[in-house]
Amino acid sequence: MSEELLSVELIREALNTKFIGRPVLYYPTVSSTMDAAKMAVLDGVTEGTVIVADHQTAGRGRLGREWVSPPGSNLTFSIILYPKLEHLPRLTLVACLAIARSIEEVTFLETSIKWPNDVQIGGRKVSGVLVESDVTGDKVNSAIVGIAVNVNLDTGAIPEIADIATSLERELGVPVPRLAILAALLGEFEKVYKDMRKGEPVQLEWKQRLTTLGQKVTVRCGDVVRKGVAEDVDDDGNLLLRLPNKKLEVISAGDVTLKG
Ligand code: BTN
Repeated sequence: MSEELLSVELIREALNTKFIGRPVLYYPTVSSTMDAAKMAVLDGVTEGTVIVADHQTAGRGRLGREWVSPPGSNLTFSIILYPKLEHLPRLTLVACLAIARSIEEVTFLETSIKWPNDVQIGGRKVSGVLVESDVTGDKVNSAIVGIAVNVNLDTGAIPEIADIATSLERELGVPVPRLAILAALLGEFEKVYKDMRKGEPVQLEWKQRLTTLGQKVTVRCGDVVRKGVAEDVDDDGNLLLRLPNKKLEVISAGDVTLKG
């Protein structure tokens, strides 16, 4: 497929939302949509403002990693929110659920969620979420939910990620319109975010979609490494890891690898 162009007008017309993506800002190239979102917050933008970029020159992932995505192939965007403090820990799970649902709606591919922030297809990562927030005391000044979806990237042709990452095109064998995924995803995000704010138990569907539970895992966060059984998750999305000494550890961030 020739490169599918995105623009503010096209995105606006495709959206079926009340406040997520209203307004939407689009950058052909930006350092990172997280930084552009932070600037937009300083300008006083409303909740739900979305910043989409075709290409990021300094995209970032979790735990200080770089996020590289070639222009014209994938989705990279950030959603600006002003949530209550109690809702902040759930934003990653809200985003993962919206991503999983929207991919299934548009492509009929089966997705799963790997704790804490990956959406996978067939055990390979297709999407990741990064949440950055600015909090003073018990007030959340802003929370920025960054989302990347591998839509048409040929991950199979990149040896370093061929085994661990996939894309919708790779799975389906045909290119997938980025606009359709973006519109469905922002629509699902709005639904799940509203439900979460109303106190509905959105974490239950998220938990059902998790592949991590019941597995022997190693969790790494910086220099800290924990091994145990991923026994459960709590309502805020923390992982409850049963350690070999039988203690239960609550883990809020890290990278999980299965022990086989
Ligand atoms: C991860 O899996 O580590 C999370 C990746 C998040 C990448 C997205 S792309 C849009 C937004 N802008 C960034 O610089 N990062 C996030």
